[in-house]
Amino acid sequence: MQIAIVAERVANETRVAATPETVKKLVGLGHSVVVEKGAGVASAVPDSAYQAAGASIAASRASALAAGDIVLTVRALPAEDIAQLKDGAVLIGMLAPYSNPDLPKLAAKQASAFAMELLPRTTRAQSMDVLSSQNNIAGYKAVLLANHYYPRFMPMLMTAAGTVKPARVLILGVGVAGLQAIATAKRLGAVVEAFDVRPSTKEQVESLGAKFVEVPMTDAEKAANDGVYAKEMSEDYQRRQTELVDKHAKQADIVITTALIPGKPAPRLLSAATVAAMKPGSVIVDMAAESGGNVESTRCGEVVHTDNGVTVVGTANLPGLMAGDASALYAKNLLTFLSLMLTKEGFSINLEDELLAATLVTHAGELRFGQAAPAAASAAPAAVQAGA
Ligand code: NAI
Repeated sequence: MQIAIVAERVANETRVAATPETVKKLVGLGHSVVVEKGAGVASAVPDSAYQAAGASIAASRASALAAGDIVLTVRALPAEDIAQLKDGAVLIGMLAPYSNPDLPKLAAKQASAFAMELLPRTTRAQSMDVLSSQNNIAGYKAVLLANHYYPRFMPMLMTAAGTVKPARVLILGVGVAGLQAIATAKRLGAVVEAFDVRPSTKEQVESLGAKFVEVPMTDAEKAANDGVYAKEMSEDYQRRQTELVDKHAKQADIVITTALIPGKPAPRLLSAATVAAMKPGSVIVDMAAESGGNVESTRCGEVVHTDNGVTVVGTANLPGLMAGDASALYAKNLLTFLSLMLTKEGFSINLEDELLAATLVTHAGELRFGQAAPAAASAAPAAVQAGA
């Protein structure tokens, strides 16, 4: 198979979908890899490193896209790139399935497109889980960004000139990013508390040495949120949550918000009124800025300084600020995912494999996303062969 890696087109996207390490593995398996010129530069990977690993450098983006039986990307391809793809190409990346208007164009191209965000959160999928690998980085970087804008120390210090109090950090949303943010803030010496709508996170928060902020829940609310992903909560719950979160935010020096609900706008956790009542010098990092923001005062891609001296950081794409490691982990996730399909004989998409069935958003001319995946899988042939 010919595998193509293209440079990213989205503004400020510094990551790349393959590294010399993953290229070497693909070449070792007998495939050829073509990389668009300069694709890895922002991730500290020069073209020469890809060449040394066995890849060729494409003369143009169009020729890389046209050459790929399989195209690996970080973000969704724009419509003009889709038009350049080979008919029936395989596309793998973070294709933003809930908001991507170009999925029908991929279907029309007969592309087999895999949206990595839809990977089930199962043990088998862990090594391919791009949301985990990238959110882990984002949670770490969010604390370092907060630290950068915070005008004080994070740890408690006893010096000859006086004692410095430790920073009080509040983490809202305790998925992968939130857990890493707790661990990083603790390592820097902060006093940390955290909140999430999923009751199962309490134990995880406490095991990291942080305090869980608990909004009392009815049994029905607990049952609704015992899954992997959070559900949208009732107005009554949101009122109780807002009251408690407001109280803790006003006492905090740093607030890091990470709350997301797949396919929905990010839940609003802090109002502008709460931000206006926070301490001068305090810092909020809103990791949900790209999904609408958890904080009313957030401006996506900007750092806002409010009249009362609060800094609200809406910097987008935090993993992209650590593009070297973000790309290395992302590329490994894709390589492992690809290995579900690359066989000795060539390439095969087994629609009975739950990981492939769940992520395959277009295939054989059809838009599959939004359909009930198991029904689509059982109606389809067990395997789709493509040439080696
Ligand atoms: P996410 O990025 O979808 O959401 C972040 C967090 O925000 C979640 O913990 C969610 O409960 C929380 N949240 C949503 N609405 C909220 C609100 N109104 N107030 C406060 N918090 C709110 O989550 P992520 O990081 O993708 O993790 C989701 C789940 O997947 C976790 O349970 C995690 O343990 C699990 N997971 C499982 C894996 C596996 O078994 N392969 C791998 C990675 C994650």
